[in-house]
Amino acid sequence: MTANDLPFAAWAKELQDRMELVLGNQLPTAQHIPARLHESMRYATLGGGKRVRPLLTFAAAELVNGQPDTVGIVAASLEMIHAYSLVHDDLPAMDNDVLRRGKPTCHIAFDEATALLAGDALQTQAFILLTRLPLSAAQSIMQVKLLAEASGSAGMAGGQAIDLASVGKPLTLPELEQMHIMKTGALIRAAVRMGAHCEPDAQSALDEHAHAQLDKYAQKIGLAFQVVDDILDVEADSTTLGKTAGKDAAADKPTYVSLMGLSDAKKMARELHAEAHDALVGFGDKARRLKELADYIVLRTY
Ligand code: IPE
Ligand code: IPE
Ligand code: MG
Ligand code: MG
Ligand code: MG
Repeated sequence: MTANDLPFAAWAKELQDRMELVLGNQLPTAQHIPARLHESMRYATLGGGKRVRPLLTFAAAELVNGQPDTVGIVAASLEMIHAYSLVHDDLPAMDNDVLRRGKPTCHIAFDEATALLAGDALQTQAFILLTRLPLSAAQSIMQVKLLAEASGSAGMAGGQAIDLASVGKPLTLPELEQMHIMKTGALIRAAVRMGAHCEPDAQSALDEHAHAQLDKYAQKIGLAFQVVDDILDVEADSTTLGKTAGKDAAADKPTYVSLMGLSDAKKMARELHAEAHDALVGFGDKARRLKELADYIVLRTY
């Protein structure tokens, strides 16, 4: 059986295991000073999480025959930014959460100052990884640009700022959409785009139209991901989620569920899912994993 014949779950498991190894190798160890900071970085990144962004990177890289070693590093850089965003998101100054990935959050297991620094250092480590890619200088700079733009004030960090400023406020639908696109959609979109820029040679590169179609897919599933996160916060329990359920309503956060109700939020997720599939039509069987990931993102239960 080749990797391509594997059922989705087995394909995903293989890559999740690979990511655990790559991340373990690319994170500093507690054998080096400062041991406690390195321990907290590893605590926040290893041994949990669905690894959705890395899976998207690998799936997109299939379109350009990306080399597994290259794609693994790119995927690890995204996961480090994501892990940092979760550590900071859970801090008392933000969502004040005590449970993440079924374990105490980083600031509970360590302390707030260490959690702040773990996030800072994970962010920097992500960019260190992108200096280690066996790609051309131009490609490496493209990877840095995509990750930086998705993480900064025009992307994840900016979306988080809007999220915090919106507590207790009735946002309009376009305002809520903008917040979700930035805080979660941007990094998911980057995961797809970075994978699609892992081509080993110029002949394997996608043309402009293909990049645009792929980007359409990425934007749809990026938004769908946070819509489903909002739904699960209401419908799932804390044990299944590995994080405290019901937090959004308790904290008076504007979400798709609070704005349009559960049933319309679910309808919207289904529409985004269909639009994501439509965007992939031109890629044929090469986009199989991307299609399966769209299914997974919308149908997931945690
Ligand atoms: C949770 O992300 C935070 C959001 C951006 C919605 P994930 O649901 O991908 O969290 P892990 O990585 O699987 O723990
Ligand atoms: C967080 O959104 C998005 C990030 C950029 C981390 P949430 O605050 O809804 O994520 P969870 O529900 O705590 O995982
Ligand atoms: Mg939050
Ligand atoms: Mg949160
Ligand atoms: Mg949430």
